[in-house]
Amino acid sequence: MLIFKTIEELRAWSRAVHVKQGTVGLVPTMGALHDGHLTLVRAARAGNSAVVASIFVNPTQFGPNEDFAKYPRTFEADCALLEAEGVDAVFAPAPEEMYRAGAATFVEVEGLSNRLDGGSRPGHFRGVATVVAKLFIAAEPDRAYFGQKDAAQVAVLRRMTADLGLPLELIICPIVREPDGLALSSRNRYLSPDERWQALVLSRAVRAVESAYRGGETDAGKLISLARVEFLKEPQVRVDYIALVDWETLLPVEKAEAGSLFAVAAWVGSTRLIDNCVL
Ligand code: PAJ
Repeated sequence: MLIFKTIEELRAWSRAVHVKQGTVGLVPTMGALHDGHLTLVRAARAGNSAVVASIFVNPTQFGPNEDFAKYPRTFEADCALLEAEGVDAVFAPAPEEMYRAGAATFVEVEGLSNRLDGGSRPGHFRGVATVVAKLFIAAEPDRAYFGQKDAAQVAVLRRMTADLGLPLELIICPIVREPDGLALSSRNRYLSPDERWQALVLSRAVRAVESAYRGGETDAGKLISLARVEFLKEPQVRVDYIALVDWETLLPVEKAEAGSLFAVAAWVGSTRLIDNCVL
């Protein structure tokens, strides 16, 4: 498996794949890999002749009081997992490679970037859109793979790709969960054993809403109340948002319909977790 530290090496590799009529699948990550990431890698492996995964803890998407410094960095273990999945190349740039000193250019998806997680994490989606645009420009992939776990991120990146007319396809993969329902997340490793139990309330709330919708309930207020009832049973967990929205605009809807996004975010101790389902 090749390991690239520079954009130049990555781009030369991608162009060499294209010269041979191959396709490049890109899997952007921040490392601390788990089975959720590996599902994206497997989809990329199945759909392309060459696969590159990026590992970059992107400073611009973390707020000043967020966990950038303590975000888990497990590069050696990540590379072993990627190699076992048959990944061809890893792109692991230093921050200076991605952001030149004094960089003044950012990608802002207006409106969308302030909704859901963007509402609670000002500047977060500007950082995400900027780094993903830079990864797309550097890797020139035919397809890029993202998880539905970060559903608002998906909406922002779909819009960015369409608005900028970027010549690639976004492939969205379903949420991978622990057997008890907890959505896999690199941040789950912050949870104490007690918090690990409390965290199950997110997936319980999502399941409650999903099954009520399947049972015929479409009223947004009622569906959101069902989720609230679940959270009331776990008073230590602090809700950030509970929302039923259009997945494209991230704006609230009154009536759930096929394709609507139900999403929750909550603080379990000092760890912020998210979960969702597409109805
Ligand atoms: P990160 O949190 O490392 O996630 C990388 C990708 O893995 C994202 O597309 C995310 O949605 C997906 N993923 C995480 N947990 C998942 C799960 N349980 N099931 C399915 N997919 C899952 O998201 C980011 O990094 C960054 O914002 C990034 C896009 C790399 C830009 O910096």
